Amino acid sequence: MPALLHLDSSADLHNSVSRGLTALFADTWRSLGDEHTVIVRDLHRSPLPHLPDAGLHYAARLRTGAERPDPEAEALQAALIEEVTNADVVVIGAPMYNWSMPSTLKAWIDYIHVLGSTVPFDTPEAPLKGKPAVIVSSRGNTYAPGTPGDGTDSVIPPLQQTLGTSLGMSVSVVTAELTLTERIPPLAPLAGQAAESLAAAQDMVRELATKLGS
Ligand SMILES: Cc1cc2nc3c(=O)[nH]c(=O)nc-3n(C[C@H](O)[C@H](O)[C@H](O)COP(=O)(O)O)c2cc1C
Repeated sequence: MPALLHLDSSADLHNSVSRGLTALFADTWRSLGDEHTVIVRDLHRSPLPHLPDAGLHYAARLRTGAERPDPEAEALQAALIEEVTNADVVVIGAPMYNWSMPSTLKAWIDYIHVLGSTVPFDTPEAPLKGKPAVIVSSRGNTYAPGTPGDGTDSVIPPLQQTLGTSLGMSVSVVTAELTLTERIPPLAPLAGQAAESLAAAQDMVRELATKLGS
């Protein structure tokens, strides 16, 4: 049973580009067959509490004597880790909010990135190693090479670092840029470029869902 974990974090429930693209990914996944299941976790509609205790950054055996997190928070962390571990593929909607990711998505990362548990530390165990993660990042402006935004994106690099370099997941990135050309007048001349970016993102999402689900 190939299982997709579908995460969204956009606070826009009407016109979200990242929600549109992750939904397209999930629909393409489902179209591959009845055995292709999807679990949805909406980090905006059902936000996680911010990580309540620094001890949760470490496996229980690595905590100091003073670090005794609330058992309820430990149980939530265990459930989130089980959910991502059980998935075959993860698709993550990651809009750009003030050059970084939404705090709702960051909270999820803080729960699942755990030294000695999901991150190899004192043992080589890496339960998420090789698991495909598809990051879908929408942004109002452009951050393409040579533009003033080049190098200021703090959404994709930290996700690649935590999910890819640290957890060992196999990360793919899809971006849809210039989503605000209709709303921000100085961006209006870039409407054609925005349409091309969205079309390319849709093609890439369909292609990745088909490849990873086959
Ligand atoms: C709180 C907030 C902060 C934003 N900050 C940025 C930003 O730093 N850079 C940018 O290009 N767009 C920014 N935007 C625009 C969003 O990235 C853009 O609307 C994007 O399409 C949001 O993703 P969504 O369509 O999936 O909701 C921001 C939007 C919001 C709501």
